[in-house]
Amino acid sequence: MPAFRLVKLLTAATAITLLSTPLFATATTFGPIISPKNPFVGQNGLATMHGDPASSDTTPFAGPGNATINSNRLALQSACPTLLGTSDGYIFGLCTTIFGRTPTVHLFDSQEVNSLAELAIAKGNILGGVYAYIDNQDKLVLTNGDNQLLRIGKSSTNGKWALAIADSIPLTPIPASDSVVGLAPDWQGYVWFATANGLAGYADPVTKNVVTLPLNATGGSAEEVANSISTSPAGTSIATTFATYLLARNDASNGIKVLWRQAYDRGPARKPGQLSWGTGSTPTFFGPQSGYEYTTIVDNASPLVNLLVYRTQDGSQVCKVSLFDSNNSGSENSPIGSGRSIFVASTYGYPYPALPDGAPASQPSSANFVGGIERVDVLEDDSQGCVVKWVNNKIRSSAVPKLSLADKKLYTFVRHTPLFPDSTSTGILDNYYYTTIDSETGIIDSKQYVGAGFIFDTLQMAGLTTVQGTLLQGTITGVVRVRKA
Ligand SMILES: *[C@@H]1O[C@H](CO)[C@@H](O)[C@H](O)[C@H]1NC(C)=O
Ligand SMILES: *[C@@H]1O[C@H](CO)[C@@H](O)[C@H](O)[C@H]1NC(C)=O
Ligand SMILES: *[C@@H]1O[C@H](CO)[C@@H](O)[C@H](O)[C@H]1NC(C)=O
Repeated sequence: MPAFRLVKLLTAATAITLLSTPLFATATTFGPIISPKNPFVGQNGLATMHGDPASSDTTPFAGPGNATINSNRLALQSACPTLLGTSDGYIFGLCTTIFGRTPTVHLFDSQEVNSLAELAIAKGNILGGVYAYIDNQDKLVLTNGDNQLLRIGKSSTNGKWALAIADSIPLTPIPASDSVVGLAPDWQGYVWFATANGLAGYADPVTKNVVTLPLNATGGSAEEVANSISTSPAGTSIATTFATYLLARNDASNGIKVLWRQAYDRGPARKPGQLSWGTGSTPTFFGPQSGYEYTTIVDNASPLVNLLVYRTQDGSQVCKVSLFDSNNSGSENSPIGSGRSIFVASTYGYPYPALPDGAPASQPSSANFVGGIERVDVLEDDSQGCVVKWVNNKIRSSAVPKLSLADKKLYTFVRHTPLFPDSTSTGILDNYYYTTIDSETGIIDSKQYVGAGFIFDTLQMAGLTTVQGTLLQGTITGVVRVRKA
């Protein structure tokens, strides 16, 4: 059973509000996904690693649910952190040997998940990004190690599939020593990006003009970017290792303006289970009316991290809520955001087999993986802040959880030590389970065995639910396909 601890974080003022708010009496309304939809990306739920350009980590499709499942593993000898779906029913996988040494694009059919074609991507001299998106013509958009913005298309001749680069834009302002870590198009079609060394920018796909702004100097510190970026009609949100930004194009000068910058508590060091010394969040836009009234990230404060919710319009803070306990307070996942609700999974202590180049030492050097998922809701009167709706410290989520707006379940994988299922230690023989969670209560409503050992490690990667309700999950060595038996 989850440990409900509603009272812990309430101030007297919010406690009084709660009594008169029907928050707990009525079923939650999730959504909307931003409308009109971004015209430059493919289908919501399929087109980005976090579902859509807002990084809501929701899908409009129902998953396999709590029915009996069967699963298959496609072995690829590489990790596939990016699995994206096209509107005509194919899957693009961006797979790399662990942590990005040789990126390869795979094309899969969405029914059997057979690899139909593949294309190696130039890896350049440093770690290439693992983020990509599907555009409105079902092409995969990504950057290679030579800082070229590529569009990759698929075609078939006599039933034989091929992948080819359809278009490329050199992102010339980016020095060869730096690389793109996240990209997403805005509602005007400019393709925004952020680099590891803290350069924000956009490319104009028509003129191929590229404009940049160094965020690494804005706050007087060497800010870096370690996660992807998000867009909404209000602008582009980027979280550096120091601060969250909302940026927009300055139409008059063709430059970039900083609409707001909010520094956060980055703590004294990288935490175990994090890949950088800073937030692990791709910023999430969400909200009950427009779908982007709010922007949220999780900071890296110690001992407890905080969920930070800002008003997208002006960056003012709606709430700051400390999450989890001192033995599991950290998240490398992008939060789920939909309606008034946010869901955060703890990754504190998660063992990664490798770290990105230059990742500073963690403090402590390692920790047990306790796990946990926590739900926080913004109150209807947001001047009253937010409230913890539930926390379940017994879910050892080993993937980025996604919320299905169709069946209202959270989908993830969990891992357990074979002989000691309650142990918080981790090992290469751990078992991996497909897991669904009731988003209203935080209670696990299905947990089914999928596989054992290192090859099944889902490594905090994001799954993809197809239109047909099949769940595809990247692992260290390929892709697992889960569907109703
Ligand atoms: C900011 O990033 C640019 C591009 O990578 C780099 O040339 C510059 O040295 C960085 N500045 C700081 C202060 O880190
Ligand atoms: C984590 O810390 C909490 C609060 O101190 C404690 O109740 C819980 O038992 C700890 N969990 C583990 C697995 O050590
Ligand atoms: C399984 O899911 C269905 C549909 O969401 C739900 O009604 C049912 O209560 C769930 N079963 C369990 C055991 O939670």
